[in-house]
Amino acid sequence: MKLIIQLFLSLDGVLQAPGGKTEDPSNNFDLGGWVSPFADEEFGALVEKSFQTATHFLFSRLTYDLMAAHWPKIPDPESMKMNTCPKFVVSASMAREGKKGSWNTTTVLDGSDLRRQVEEVKKMEEEGEVQVHGSGSLARQLHDLGLVDEFRLFLMPIVLGKGKKLWGDGALPTSFEVAESKTTSKGLVYVSLKPKGGVVQEDVPPPEEFVGEGKRDRAEDDEGDAPVKKAKSY
Ligand SMILES: *[C@@H]1O[C@H](CO)[C@@H](O)[C@H](O)[C@H]1NC(C)=O
Repeated sequence: MKLIIQLFLSLDGVLQAPGGKTEDPSNNFDLGGWVSPFADEEFGALVEKSFQTATHFLFSRLTYDLMAAHWPKIPDPESMKMNTCPKFVVSASMAREGKKGSWNTTTVLDGSDLRRQVEEVKKMEEEGEVQVHGSGSLARQLHDLGLVDEFRLFLMPIVLGKGKKLWGDGALPTSFEVAESKTTSKGLVYVSLKPKGGVVQEDVPPPEEFVGEGKRDRAEDDEGDAPVKKAKSY
């Protein structure tokens, strides 16, 4: 199976409490519920399309508890899928306390060897997708372990200035191939990104030629007679 990370992010990379004011108020985060203003039909269709291809889910404890409190109560086909397909929650404390998870078809992973445990989940089936929704710190650990096959990011045109972030110092340096991208009418940018290795470094090429004696572009040339560089067009 492929491992897919699906996340809502602000421009400053915040992922905390996208869906509601009380979703995750930890660290006094009081800006929860920042996705809905950008939700429209196009956004709904993109979320639905991704949901259709899910066969398994993997959550952090926090996201699992939110989902487990929500989905079993909702009688529609979407919740049927959530309620019947296999789910994994990474939680050392649930494992230690022998908790099975109240939500149907849940397996608890203790996370003691996250790489091996998630690799085993991915190998359970040839086809299909294990989707990670929310679960920010877990998503980041999976990225740093190089286990992610695809990120599906919904970038909201908003800066929050605080809150839990996906990226930060120490993230595994990675280049991505853009598999799909779309901007909705409300300015939300959806990108599907597939990791394709490390960071490729290249210097900006030197200017190919110099023009004149510095006379023509004198007005912009503080150095007086120094040659004026002709900007290379990109
Ligand atoms: C739990 O999952 C099983 C197997 O996927 C399914 O048959 C059953 O209907 C589910 N139960 C509930 C309450 O959703």
